[in-house]
Amino acid sequence: MQENKTFLHVFDQHTLRNIVKLTSDGLITELIGPIGTGKESYVFYSKDVHGYEVAVKIHRHNIQSFKEIPSYLSLRGIKSGGFLNTIDDWTRYEYKSLERAFNSGVRAPKPIGLYKNLIVMGFVGFNSVPAASAIKDSNFDLEEWYKDIIGFIIKMGKSGMIHGDLSPYNILNFDSKPYLIDFSQSLKLTSLTKEYLTRDINNINNWFLKLGKQDLLTEQEVLDSVYGEKK
Ligand SMILES: Nc1ncnc2c1ncn2[C@@H]1O[C@H](COP(=O)(O)OP(=O)(O)OP(=O)(O)O)[C@@H](O)[C@H]1O
Ligand SMILES: [Mg+2]
Repeated sequence: MQENKTFLHVFDQHTLRNIVKLTSDGLITELIGPIGTGKESYVFYSKDVHGYEVAVKIHRHNIQSFKEIPSYLSLRGIKSGGFLNTIDDWTRYEYKSLERAFNSGVRAPKPIGLYKNLIVMGFVGFNSVPAASAIKDSNFDLEEWYKDIIGFIIKMGKSGMIHGDLSPYNILNFDSKPYLIDFSQSLKLTSLTKEYLTRDINNINNWFLKLGKQDLLTEQEVLDSVYGEKK
């Protein structure tokens, strides 16, 4: 890792130590450049020791997000203590959700590794150029995308989970195919959390309605597919 890169100055000591650990474990070589910065996280472009392109998502240790964490964790049935632990629990929950979605056949970045507040995953993009989100690049086949995305919601539902924040901001357009990202708001599907599943379905339907898609599936039709053949 090149310590002189200016963006390294924005990290707190714990995060820096965790990045060094990922590097010494060989999961990444160095953080090459930022891809995205949000309120809660930074995403960096990196490579593993074989030169394979990866993305590293870093959950920030900021006070703002800490205030929201207790209610976030309790909704997910996670008991935690201490500032760093809660951030790490949140990160672990996101990673496990990405794994579950990926393993149930959702097109999403490949989960590669987890260490404390850091997630390493496959890079969605090519030759260091990240894919644009669907909000910026709506150059795709409406019918194909709708079928894929509703299919992903159903696959996740059948495996007992909800993405929880499904919108064109969290869908990348790579090679004209949709990739779901950002499982930080995901939830287990229960009778108490069903409203988040219907919210995801409605977000997608409203977005496709605006794009001009006709013959949308109703909320009930999607729910029937999720629950009808639930494993
Ligand atoms: N695996 C990836 N490959 C390429 N780009 C990615 C990848 N993961 C994230 N990105 C980019 O980074 C941005 C931020 O990622 P993400 O949506 O996961 O974080 P966020 O919105 O900050 O999440 P949070 O809700 O945790 O604050 C995305 O909009 C996308 O442009
Ligand atoms: Mg996001």
